[in-house]
Amino acid sequence: MKDAAPQAVYLSDYTPPAYLVNQVHLTFRLAPEATRVISKIAFRPNPEAQNSDFFLHGENLRLIRAAIDGAEIKPDITPEGLRATVPDAPFTFEAEVEINPAANTALEGLYMSNGMYCTQCEAEGFRKITYYPDRPDVMSVFSVRIEGDAPVLLSNGDAVAQGAGFAEWHDPWPKPAYLFALVAGDLINHPDRFTTRSGRDVELNIWVRPGDEGKCAFGMEALKKSMTWDEEVYGREYDLDIFNIVAVDDFNMGAMENKGLNIFNSSCVLSTPETSTDANFERIEAIIAHEYFHNWTGNRITCRDWFQLCLKEGLTVYRDSEFTSDMRSAPVKRISDVIDLRARQFREDNGPLAHPVRPASFVEINNFYTATVYEKGAELIGMLKRLVGDEAYKKALNLYFERHDGQACTIEDWLAVFQEVTGRDLAQFKLWYEEAGTPRLKVRDEFKDGTYTLHFEQQTPATPGQDTKHPRVIPIAVGLLGANGDEVQETRVLEMTQAAQSFSFHGLASRPIPSILRDFSAPVVLERDTTNAERAFLLAHDTDPFNKWEAGRALARDGLIAMIREGAAPDPAYLDAVQTMARDETLDPAFRALALGLPSEDDLAQALFDMGSTPDPQAIWEALEQLRNARAKHIEGVARELYKAHQVTAPYRPDAEQSGARALSNAALAIISRIDGGALAARQFESADNMTQQLAAWSCLLQAGAGEAATQAFYDQWQGDRLVIDKWFSLQIVHASPEDTAEAASRLANHADFNIRNPNRFRATFGAMVMSPAGFHHASGKGYRLLAEWLIRLDPLNPQTTARMCSAFETWRRYDAARQTLIKAELDRILDTPGLSRDTTEMVTRIRG
Ligand code: ARG
Ligand code: ZN
Repeated sequence: MKDAAPQAVYLSDYTPPAYLVNQVHLTFRLAPEATRVISKIAFRPNPEAQNSDFFLHGENLRLIRAAIDGAEIKPDITPEGLRATVPDAPFTFEAEVEINPAANTALEGLYMSNGMYCTQCEAEGFRKITYYPDRPDVMSVFSVRIEGDAPVLLSNGDAVAQGAGFAEWHDPWPKPAYLFALVAGDLINHPDRFTTRSGRDVELNIWVRPGDEGKCAFGMEALKKSMTWDEEVYGREYDLDIFNIVAVDDFNMGAMENKGLNIFNSSCVLSTPETSTDANFERIEAIIAHEYFHNWTGNRITCRDWFQLCLKEGLTVYRDSEFTSDMRSAPVKRISDVIDLRARQFREDNGPLAHPVRPASFVEINNFYTATVYEKGAELIGMLKRLVGDEAYKKALNLYFERHDGQACTIEDWLAVFQEVTGRDLAQFKLWYEEAGTPRLKVRDEFKDGTYTLHFEQQTPATPGQDTKHPRVIPIAVGLLGANGDEVQETRVLEMTQAAQSFSFHGLASRPIPSILRDFSAPVVLERDTTNAERAFLLAHDTDPFNKWEAGRALARDGLIAMIREGAAPDPAYLDAVQTMARDETLDPAFRALALGLPSEDDLAQALFDMGSTPDPQAIWEALEQLRNARAKHIEGVARELYKAHQVTAPYRPDAEQSGARALSNAALAIISRIDGGALAARQFESADNMTQQLAAWSCLLQAGAGEAATQAFYDQWQGDRLVIDKWFSLQIVHASPEDTAEAASRLANHADFNIRNPNRFRATFGAMVMSPAGFHHASGKGYRLLAEWLIRLDPLNPQTTARMCSAFETWRRYDAARQTLIKAELDRILDTPGLSRDTTEMVTRIRG
């Protein structure tokens, strides 16, 4: 039986809370199947309220008793919460409820993971713990008493009392319920200390399961670096005497910034050189920074409502990307971020799930923790900074922290500080938050009498529910190069505000070569008719590292498109240019490794679709294989030199320098393996003493069809390490041939180590299948069928992860009629499932269109 259509909520319907909370006291009597939560909440009527209804959110709670000012009440209970009649003066509400953490497979609210109690309350999970006004604009001071027999009992804030079987915590900073956290279990800490610049001595801990205590050192260093960086760059200090991080194996997302008690997916905090790749280390450093930075951008200043999610997420992603740029290489970080933005956010913006960075409505907020809110949200901050300049950005941020500390804010508040500091009208800039879709920026150029002119036109395609789009303000960073490669015009930011607009550069001796959208100064698709020769020139000479990389990428893409559409041979211009680039020892090895990458199958499918072709996933895969093989023949010699020259002999360090060398030597290994059938990779697999080298070698062996022994050896070596076994699951699927992708996923889903309740393992299996488009989009429809089957199985257990993974289908309109019919049938099958969650219903309905 299907529930009634889920109800949407609208930004325009916002009303202030009827009651505010002065303080809340919670007692937890922990028991796996019957935890009691006793609450005592001091309310006061909100002078700004528009009504006096007393409603508390609450889901799946068994109410034992409730009282107001000490007198028992019998409130009205609905599936969403509780209503009662209350005095029109301050009063105390008390309740005792029972919940079942052991049965909570949705991993939202209070749940259990490997015997440990753990919470996830963002966005609306607190209502599964007790009755409460579960909205971010209700902020309060929390005191928590935990009773239970676990040796470690943690909550937010400072520890105020501890004894046999109990602990008490007090968080002096008012916070919304989504930042509440509780952890209880048999945990071991990796301790350290940090002294803030004003002299506060902070106790730091990373708490892990026994056996994992050797995997915390890197995360702890990352935390201390983050604390220093936020003091130095943003002037933000930590504000409690203790900062705890806990690693948990079963977690829907990456991590969570609960006040003073961050909770992490263990894959985003645990590391050792033997078990983690360089990429894992970089990601861990970034996520630790991200969650720590939320202490100011998210916790001290939070969101008024969930429509404002980008206020904290866009800004915090922007801050963590600045941090990574400072710790490592800024150009490499920028290029990697743009690769990711295009792969996930442009894809989203181009399909049925497109939504504004600040959505105007939603059914289930968990479905809006998206690349658009996070990554495009961060791009908007970057654009704003570029438009106002570094100094004004700094002033605006200081004003923001000063004015809004302790408040729950909106995008309007955010833009207002910039408007005040700069005197600039940001009404047009605000469109970036309100209108979905990726602008297409067309440019043509003209040279006459020493004047060079760029003519731009912008146009944003319609997105669901938004047919008309308005011209945006677009910062376009441009530099000009002379024929010898010298820069004749340094980078200048052109500010485009009209639908069509021209910009001129005067006094030039000859026609320059333009380098447009340097550093990817705006999240747009740049369209320009140009020549291979010009691209090769920019790849060789551009002084802007992003555009240098971009030129190589465009050259590769155009060649691949010609191969796919016209059966052309691999482009010799690309092969030569990439060879020159690869052996250019003045270039950072990490940059060269990135420039040896090729557009993804999904990028190519979208590019073909944009050109009016119907992408054939198999043909795309074949063209990429053909180009990789041709390239291997062409540059094998260079690859062998690079492999030798960039071996790291020093003890393993996951820093930018060593990671770059390994990235380049492993890119070379992949090239060599196409020629030698994996002989060199087999040697590297044998001798590897770190996961980066081991995994790269195994991946080359799988690619060469010579991976069987390594697959077994890898399993035997790592079967006790769940995070490494996730890699073992995904890599086999990623490297299966398109014919076998679905079989590989299905076989592994039936492996003894598969566990549908663990989101990491589920994603390692089915996420990997979806990341292999030729396999997932196999003409038989077997990939679609398998995914739908497993999503239907997962939905009753874990709606959030199910809903997120539905986005695998979001590109369905690109494909041919036969594939569209197959996908629609699977979408309908999912939608017809009795009792389908609100999360998945919303996603599939939007995708189906
Ligand atoms: N605020 C967290 C972060 O970005 C993400 C948590 C989202 N969780 C969720 N279930 N929606 O750091
Ligand atoms: Zn975040």
